[in-house]
Amino acid sequence: MQHIKQYVDENKQRLLDELFELLRFPSVSADPKYKPDVLKTADYVAHKLRDAGADKVEVCQTAGYPIVYGEKIIDPSKPTVLVYGHYDVQPPDPLELWKTPPFEPTVRDGKIYARGACDDKGQFYMHVKAFELMMQTNTLPCNIKFMIEGEEEVGSSNLAIFVKANKERLKADVVLISDTSMISMEHPSLETGLRGLSYLEVEVTGPNRDLHSGVYGGAVANPATILAKMIASLHDENNHIAIPGFYNDVIDLTPAERTALNNAPYNEDEYKKDLDVQELWGEKGYTTFERTGTRPTLEVNGIWGGYIGEGAKTVLPSKASAKISMRLVPNQTSEKITELFTEHFLSIAPASVKVKVTPHHGGEPAVTPTDSVAYRAAQKAIAESFGKDPIPTRGGGSIPIVALFEAELGLKTVLMGFGLDSDALHSPNEKYDIFNYYKGIETIPLFHKYFAELSK
Ligand code: BES
Ligand code: MN
Ligand code: MN
Repeated sequence: MQHIKQYVDENKQRLLDELFELLRFPSVSADPKYKPDVLKTADYVAHKLRDAGADKVEVCQTAGYPIVYGEKIIDPSKPTVLVYGHYDVQPPDPLELWKTPPFEPTVRDGKIYARGACDDKGQFYMHVKAFELMMQTNTLPCNIKFMIEGEEEVGSSNLAIFVKANKERLKADVVLISDTSMISMEHPSLETGLRGLSYLEVEVTGPNRDLHSGVYGGAVANPATILAKMIASLHDENNHIAIPGFYNDVIDLTPAERTALNNAPYNEDEYKKDLDVQELWGEKGYTTFERTGTRPTLEVNGIWGGYIGEGAKTVLPSKASAKISMRLVPNQTSEKITELFTEHFLSIAPASVKVKVTPHHGGEPAVTPTDSVAYRAAQKAIAESFGKDPIPTRGGGSIPIVALFEAELGLKTVLMGFGLDSDALHSPNEKYDIFNYYKGIETIPLFHKYFAELSK
């Protein structure tokens, strides 16, 4: 531990400067206008992996954005850790809500504000620097492979193809990912599950053109009103999802599992205060942890139609649309849920409109074992660096590739995230605490150490 602290101490400023450099690339995968920047980011990551001591570093081309690969094999008879992360980020919009520009990292109150600060540049880069630390201090105890992709925020479809085509190269004993949250620095935790995702877009069309809302209003169905009604009907009065068959495959947690999950510290007042809401909302009969970690949900991510410019325009829109996502829990599949949604949504459309449902991407849920050597290594590493045992939790977010690693490579994952839910992932003013960044760099070598030791 001493050599770790010393290395971080001696390199503090540089470790931060390099992360800042990475954060300055606007690597937004969703918007083609950033394409040159996304490509430059991949090259930067490759360059940094090489500098840190990785061999066979390659910017692997795909049909979309490249995957950066690198490895250090110290001894084929030793265990191998496959580190996964993503260098792409979510769009920074709405820009006007950022206190400082999203791609000019700025420190306020000990926190780095920038798009990707936490999700996932700040987190995956800790692994690159922890690797450098182990190389420089001659303490790398196992083999390590890096796979850092550029399309996580848009569904990882090309990574899925890459994984299937590179099974030999990706051979490992476990996948290690830092792309999730902890409860807090006082209550370190390890996520033991991720939800799946089914994402789609719906479009409701009424008349063949936008109409004068006075001349036609009242006589012709307004697609915006119809869409709002259809969406509102998707939850019943208990906030259960009202799509027939939606819960059929959900496996209920045992009472013991529920108790364990709800034992984790949770302060509802703080939770509400952070979000500035008076009251929480959710499926009746479940706690907040259960609602976000163990229950499937349905959210409207965006809704539009008609006139949304300055001032007023009296118009009855021809079309209204929404983007809808459903988070899935173990045993549900995105394909089946997408089908159930589509069938139901079309069935509730009144004859006064036409409805179109277009599926986007999907991803499968995953649970990670808590009795594996790798999980125990993560537990020990966190216990040592935080002075406290980590609490197992279930995460609400999705990393679709985790289920694929298991299906295609037979690999289990450890989710050793150092972010906080309040780090504003995907929101304006995303941040990452400098403390967490260094803490991660210090904890990761301990994971490798204990993983190598416990694997013996
Ligand atoms: N890192 C997040 C997922 C996450 C965040 C998991 C916090 C657990 C806690 C990841 O980058 C992400 O945002 N994933 C997307 C899914 C993707 C298919 C767009 C998500 O969860 O919306
Ligand atoms: Mn992420
Ligand atoms: Mn994300």
